[in-house]
Amino acid sequence: MEAIKHRALLKMQSYINGQWHASTKQFAVHNPANQQTIALVDDAGIDGTVLAIEAAKSAFKAWSSKSANERGTLLRRWYQLMLEHQDDLALILTQEQGKPLAEAKGEIAYGAAFLDWFAEEGKRCYGDIIPGPASDKRILVIKQAVGVVAAVTPWNFPNAMIARKAAAALAAGCTFVVRPAQLTPLSALAMAELAHQAGIPAGVFNVVVGEDARGMGKILTESTDVAKFTFTGSTAVGKQLIAQCAGSVKKVSMELGGNAPFIVFDDADIDAAVQGALASKYRNAGQTCVCANRFFVQRGVYKVFAEKLAAALAQLPVGNGLANDVVIGPMISEQAKNNVHELVTDSVSAGAKILSGGEAHHAGSHFYQPTIMTDVTNDMPIARNEIFGPVAPLIVFDDEAEVIQLANDTEYGLAAYFYTRDIGRVWRVGEALEFGMVGVNEGIISNAAAPFGGVKQSGSGREGSQYGLDDYTEIKYLCMGGLNA
Ligand code: SIN
Repeated sequence: MEAIKHRALLKMQSYINGQWHASTKQFAVHNPANQQTIALVDDAGIDGTVLAIEAAKSAFKAWSSKSANERGTLLRRWYQLMLEHQDDLALILTQEQGKPLAEAKGEIAYGAAFLDWFAEEGKRCYGDIIPGPASDKRILVIKQAVGVVAAVTPWNFPNAMIARKAAAALAAGCTFVVRPAQLTPLSALAMAELAHQAGIPAGVFNVVVGEDARGMGKILTESTDVAKFTFTGSTAVGKQLIAQCAGSVKKVSMELGGNAPFIVFDDADIDAAVQGALASKYRNAGQTCVCANRFFVQRGVYKVFAEKLAAALAQLPVGNGLANDVVIGPMISEQAKNNVHELVTDSVSAGAKILSGGEAHHAGSHFYQPTIMTDVTNDMPIARNEIFGPVAPLIVFDDEAEVIQLANDTEYGLAAYFYTRDIGRVWRVGEALEFGMVGVNEGIISNAAAPFGGVKQSGSGREGSQYGLDDYTEIKYLCMGGLNA
């Protein structure tokens, strides 16, 4: 592991009940840019997961009894420590996940922003007073922490997906157990070290790392001591986890797969659309659930958009994320790269053409060339599936009604984007798209103030924003009677 200034951030053990938890079994963490082993981490397995749930259960009463101000102060301290250590956290993230260093720094700031946001938002967890059904009655509504929250988080945002969930959970008064993806445990453990330094009490924030995704996930979803389960990952895995939660009727929130349309109308600012397309499509080498997945470009601007996108893409250096100026890093695994290539070749067999890229990249076994495909139709494999790689398929369309139908023709409903300068169209298309988040003349839509989440098979619940606490609270109503003199 290169150049980390504060070695205390490099932790190789799970963080349970405020302590580092040793185990005799270990697993290796690799750098996807060059496959070097960067760490051997103790595997907490099922036993560690059970211990973490017990710790979170014991800590719940004291944590939920604190005032929102007290919890906010600790969250704010954690936020400040994340920013103070932004460079080291980014170095860890790039080496285990692969994204370029500048992007990794951006992710740390993005993750930290949720701690800052919810440190404040916890103070606004308002209730209500409702007129009663009779003159001697009043109805009071209060919101209370749900209890122990269990989370399973993905490898593509090893810091921010934990921060987005933990910040809301802790601010609401819940305690938290997270199992990060086994490919990227180090960012999660570094966050735990900073939570510790911030003074978050033992048992409130627990990180269990291990290879047994299925076994650990089963405990987290089935334990009756866990009141709420939250997951970010694929729709296929999300469905299994929802089913596992059914036995204990847990509150569940899911941030699942996407198949985002990116629509460019004839009247769009094409240069802005190209910049938005680059940001939305090639961020994290296309391994983002809100990534543009299908580009619908109106016939009159199809050629110019394709040419400008190809010219801009040619300027983006590909390589190891630690190298200066690299903008597109490796994919998480060779298998992931092969999956993307298969979608490309199957679609070429069905009639699509390659405008640029379309092959493995010489930078290493996990790299794929940033790719643009033309002559794509909405029924080709590259348009039906979530690509999760640096490939932009361009589909031509003629009118607004047609493109709305094509864009909505997917089981997913996470993010969508469109570019137009017609204000009427902004409202019509914005309202007609069946997606939880819509970028209008904007390619980057994620931030702590916004409600992140999807519809259809892209999930349920919202993270971030003033709505983000709702998934971690229960509404209780108190009926006050006998008020007449
Ligand atoms: C994700 O890909 O799961 C999250 C992306 C984001 O927060 O922008």
